[in-house]
Amino acid sequence: MTTQTANLANPAARKATERTILMCRPDFFTVNYRINPWMHPEQPTDTSLAVRQWEVLYNTYLELGFDVRLIDPIDSLPDMVYAANGGFVIDGIAYGAKFRYEQRGPEGPAYMDWFRDNGFDVREPEHTNEGEGDFLLVGDVILAGTGFRSDTASHREVERIFGREVVSLELVNPNFYHLDTAIAVLDPEPIEGGAQNIAYLPSAFNEEGLAVLRERFPDAIEVNEEDASVLGLNSYSDGYNIVIASRAKDFERQLRERGYNPIGVDLSELLLGGGGVKCCTLELRR
Ligand code: ARG
Repeated sequence: MTTQTANLANPAARKATERTILMCRPDFFTVNYRINPWMHPEQPTDTSLAVRQWEVLYNTYLELGFDVRLIDPIDSLPDMVYAANGGFVIDGIAYGAKFRYEQRGPEGPAYMDWFRDNGFDVREPEHTNEGEGDFLLVGDVILAGTGFRSDTASHREVERIFGREVVSLELVNPNFYHLDTAIAVLDPEPIEGGAQNIAYLPSAFNEEGLAVLRERFPDAIEVNEEDASVLGLNSYSDGYNIVIASRAKDFERQLRERGYNPIGVDLSELLLGGGGVKCCTLELRR
């Protein structure tokens, strides 16, 4: 039986796994600078709507039984809600972030303080990187994005720190500037009867990266431009339940077909900053 048959025919193999995550309430969310094409500082934002939408995501995670930790928002850091960028955490080791743009610079130390205070072994980054925005763990392999934010030197740093294989992928479309806007990890843990899978937007990668993805993930879900443009890929999976943008309808259908349980949430206000579900979610792996 091929992996694909196993993945499609054996949806019963899908199993929710326990997750521990870190989030940051968007009490100070706004868009007052522009560091990605989604951001339009001249247009108004509604902070209380952002908070209400974020709370739906937060409550969804609680209902799924996740252990959700919170970091205090800082009022001069409107992008702090995008916790995924705060670091990359595996085996209790927290590799800190070093942001590309100065507007987000202070978030690096703020998140490192939180990691330290909560018992993580913090590694200060030497190279520019935006945490789980550009680093995705799939099985034993770390997929690492570059092109807009994280430097490839940080990929080597991550390889040294975590002692795992790091596969660099170059992003080419400025709308999908972080790897977690172009790839969704569907199976965070090894699954029975098949390989751990991902979903991605092919046009977000150069030819070389695309070849790597096609070779490593022959059964991957390819998401269309429309769903990617509502940051549908910026989703978070526990292996069975996958929290996605409610507007990503075709992606939702494909997930259901494969035996996952997609749960749609609307983060339209946070989309104005260029982030979605996954951006608001940092995984804490002990
Ligand atoms: N405004 C933020 C930035 O451009 C959005 C970050 C989104 N985060 C993510 N993990 N993709 O840096």
